[in-house]
Amino acid sequence: MPTEYDALTMTGSGGAVSFALTKISADKMPETINGESGHHICYVKVLTELIARELTGQTGRYGLDEEKIGQIALASCLHDIGKSRIPQAILEKRGVLTPVEYDIVKKHTTLWGELIDRFGASLDPQIRAFARDVCLFHHERFDGTGYPHGLKGSDIPIWA
Ligand SMILES: [Fe+2]
Ligand SMILES: [Fe+2]
Repeated sequence: MPTEYDALTMTGSGGAVSFALTKISADKMPETINGESGHHICYVKVLTELIARELTGQTGRYGLDEEKIGQIALASCLHDIGKSRIPQAILEKRGVLTPVEYDIVKKHTTLWGELIDRFGASLDPQIRAFARDVCLFHHERFDGTGYPHGLKGSDIPIWA
């Protein structure tokens, strides 16, 4: 694993949110990044980059050059930012969520819009577009059983 990461980080969660490119050292991994564990965010970023590169190399189908792969990997750091608008009591609940609670958790995918649309003007437009899809579609499943839209197969953007 790399010893240093470039991560896209979000600060603030209430009235004002901002995004910044942040250097993160594996030795001094922050406990939380974007509301999740620092390790989780960095693992997701590294795996996203590896998978995107393998998919491109093996299939030649997706037209992802190294620049786009880097942008998708950065966007992946933001995948769960919508959770910052979900009550902590639900996110930290031990045991099974009630159907109502689960519906609230599912909203973390669509809440990206408020955050990225309102505060994402400083993001590179392509990263912003990837981040939108990553936030919105990262719980969709190939067989159509995911959420929020139950998209199937290639209807799900490959970077999500
Ligand atoms: Fe999620
Ligand atoms: Fe996550």
